[in-house]
Amino acid sequence: MSTMPGTLTNVTPDIDAPTIPNATIYHGDRLLPLKNVLLSALPPVTWLMSSRTRKYANKVYNIIITVHKVNYFIINLSFSMNKIITFAITFTKKSKRMNKQKRFLLQESEIPTQWYNIQADMPNKPMRPLNPATKQPLTAEDLAHIFSLECSKQELDTEHAWIDIPEEVLDMYKYYRSTPLVRAYALEKALDTPAHIYFKNESVNPLGSHKINSALPQCYYCREEGVTNVTTETGAGQWGAALSYAAKVFGLEAAVYQVKITLQQKPYRGILMRTFGANVTGSSMSTRAGKDIITRDPNNSGSLGTAISEAIELATTTPNCKYALGSVLNHVALHQTIIGLEAEKQMEMAGEYPDMVIACFGGGSNFGGIAFPFMRHTILEGRKTEYIAAEPSSCPKLTRGEFRYDYGDEAGYTPLLPMFTLGHDFKPANIHAGGLRYHGAGVIISQLIKDGMMHGVDIPQLESFEAGLLFSRTEGIVPAPESCHAIAATIREANRCKESGEQKVILFNLSGHGLIDMPSYDSYLNVDLSDYNISDEEIRKYLAGVPKLD
Ligand SMILES: Cc1ncc(COP(=O)(O)O)c(C=O)c1O
Repeated sequence: MSTMPGTLTNVTPDIDAPTIPNATIYHGDRLLPLKNVLLSALPPVTWLMSSRTRKYANKVYNIIITVHKVNYFIINLSFSMNKIITFAITFTKKSKRMNKQKRFLLQESEIPTQWYNIQADMPNKPMRPLNPATKQPLTAEDLAHIFSLECSKQELDTEHAWIDIPEEVLDMYKYYRSTPLVRAYALEKALDTPAHIYFKNESVNPLGSHKINSALPQCYYCREEGVTNVTTETGAGQWGAALSYAAKVFGLEAAVYQVKITLQQKPYRGILMRTFGANVTGSSMSTRAGKDIITRDPNNSGSLGTAISEAIELATTTPNCKYALGSVLNHVALHQTIIGLEAEKQMEMAGEYPDMVIACFGGGSNFGGIAFPFMRHTILEGRKTEYIAAEPSSCPKLTRGEFRYDYGDEAGYTPLLPMFTLGHDFKPANIHAGGLRYHGAGVIISQLIKDGMMHGVDIPQLESFEAGLLFSRTEGIVPAPESCHAIAATIREANRCKESGEQKVILFNLSGHGLIDMPSYDSYLNVDLSDYNISDEEIRKYLAGVPKLD
């Protein structure tokens, strides 16, 4: 490359030519104007100088350049420091935000594809239900007179821990799953508790509760087996609404018996069921079982036990019709384990593991749904987690019932189930948590209670609504009156943590929202609600009606 006469290198060959730093190293073109000035001005000037002066000039020049080098080094350093500091601030802010993550959701591809059958892992298998006529252990074929054959098999399966969710059911789960796992920061703050409270929000599907998780597979299996009609009972109307929708999805006709008192308390659920095309009847009215019950007790306001009798009678007297139950039975809890299996993954995302799992308790399906997947780790790996089922004080089968073989319905149509019961003709008070007004606990749950793996707590009605109100005002979701029991039990535990200073991780299931239960909140706000206490004597009276086995 030729060098132009008059350039610096050319005129001062005998001294070290100062190297002008490459401008690009020093961030941009800041040095360029100086470089240009020096290149154009210095050569003619230095040409006229004596060699001594030239040396001076060169020294001055070198000083200027060094000052600039230092200057640019400092500028660069401050640039870099700035960048590092900005990055550090952003990172800290981000990770702070990450630590305060509110909701944890799974991708569709992460939704579990199998249900968990705890029966396979239980150290003591549940006792077998009995055929009420022969008093012999029940077979799947016996059950299949009432239920779909597949559900009957699942009911008695004590071998397979994992059951595949059918593809079509999975497709329907994707309409609303995964449901969020939510950290209840605002509730924690209101309680001033060191506990970390999480809830699994099963209220976010269009039907409003967890019940849809079992309604879909039950209707799917019926359709697969050529059934055309399904019938069921419903307490608060959540299960009835879910079954009506699922029946429509799989092309079945649905007939629902809703407990008379809740049809009056919550008229919109009946309308919801009819919107999905179901035939809705207030129990007890139309069947032989219903008429017998109302004849014996004209003021009977109905119970789940009564409504179950009516639905089973319809199923066994109508061709091509099966009965679908929304709780109590093992296969219903099996379908609900999708809740806990998702929650397990989501708790991992939150970087925590529950010390306590809490759910409200009617027959046990949402409790089993959230608890069983975690209980698997307690059974198989000895993980220490406490499992708490929250029942109403007015219907205390877990805390004050007896472990007996009893019917699941009032008229005695179901198999005899080994369960904690208050007696199958127990008349629960007209509390607003209609879905918890049931006399017995599921067979699996009953065995787990016997084995000391879990326990129940009883919640008075007013405490449950007080909890529901606090939850609504902090987390912004109005819970179903049933779910309020789980919240009340959670609040009790969180307050205990406050007293002891323990930072326990509490996970509860928000089984449903209460937006169709507003008349119940209205009564509470108008101070029209009360607690119902049941005496030991009353419980003894009902238990006297439980069949005696030799
Ligand atoms: C919202 C809600 N939660 C809980 C329950 C209680 O049922 P289970 O014990 O089967 O979960 C019901 C029953 O109707 C319900 O509607």
